Amino acid sequence: MQVSSILQGGYAHPLSRKWQARRSLEKNMFMYPIFITDDPSASVEIPTLPGQRRWGVDRLEEFLGPLVKKGLSSVILFGVPLNAAKDDCGTPADDLEGPVIQAIKLLRKSFPELYVAADVCLCEYTSHGHCGILNHDHTINTEPSVERISQVALSYAQAGVHCVAPSDMMDGRILGIKRKLIDNGFGNKVTLMSYSAKFASGLYGPFRDAAGSAPSFGNRKCYQLPPQAKGLARRAITRDVNEGADIIMVKPALPYLDVINDASQLAPDHPIACYQVSGEYAMVVAGANAGVYDLKDMAFETSESMVRAGATLILSYFTPQFLDWLDV
Ligand code: PBG
Ligand code: ZN
Repeated sequence: MQVSSILQGGYAHPLSRKWQARRSLEKNMFMYPIFITDDPSASVEIPTLPGQRRWGVDRLEEFLGPLVKKGLSSVILFGVPLNAAKDDCGTPADDLEGPVIQAIKLLRKSFPELYVAADVCLCEYTSHGHCGILNHDHTINTEPSVERISQVALSYAQAGVHCVAPSDMMDGRILGIKRKLIDNGFGNKVTLMSYSAKFASGLYGPFRDAAGSAPSFGNRKCYQLPPQAKGLARRAITRDVNEGADIIMVKPALPYLDVINDASQLAPDHPIACYQVSGEYAMVVAGANAGVYDLKDMAFETSESMVRAGATLILSYFTPQFLDWLDV
């Protein structure tokens, strides 16, 4: 046997195993997705998303206070309007009395150290459940969609959000939002995180239950990317970099580790985010409950693989657990 054949000496000890990582998981790499509903006192379990709830604005301090104490550094907010009048252009998205804007204001005041991001999309607020404004033939009407989404992003910026994250996948929305932010004095204040490579995935089911955002007809395949589309994903990443995105995201994460790696090479000077989406989370939990593996081991393995692929930020429903796990 050659001397170079022997590798095991290099990772025999727990500490020397840790040194094998180019980057290790840290608490500040986790951003926690939170569902905010318009009943201010709500704390309602989401059956398909075990352990996650829809929260009312009045419950956020008791919910997040202990997590912030444990080192929670960032959240991303999703609105779940249950009583709002949805229409074809998503008017309730930036209702000043709506749950997202109310939550942004409250969190900025109650937790000054917490970084607050908001998902920007119309699907939770449109009568048809699609992410943009539609033509009569149900195709996307790009220009008014981008204008409306930019306006919503600006409204969240005006409410005090640190980061706007458009998940709608309309063409040109990064440019539209960036321009709108700059023209209104927020260019140097608000981060623009683009869901750049967002695939038309089967893994969003629990989220659509949670947010009530399933389309009432058709699907999202004409704006979210085809799962096979490596080239389109690369083009979308490069486009969004050129349109002024500050952070590039890939979503879902585990089935698309190659795209995360592509993003880290196409945008080496940007933070790279990935979203371990609702269905991925539910899959990991279900497998653990079925005795296939240990939950914590698998949460670590999936997250570490994302970081290995090139992610610097993970949107994860496991965030509260990692705040405990990363303490030891
Ligand atoms: C809405 C949106 C979705 C997710 C984030 N923003 C669902 C979708 O596009 O249908 C998915 C998040 C998750 O599954 O955890 N544009
Ligand atoms: Zn949407």
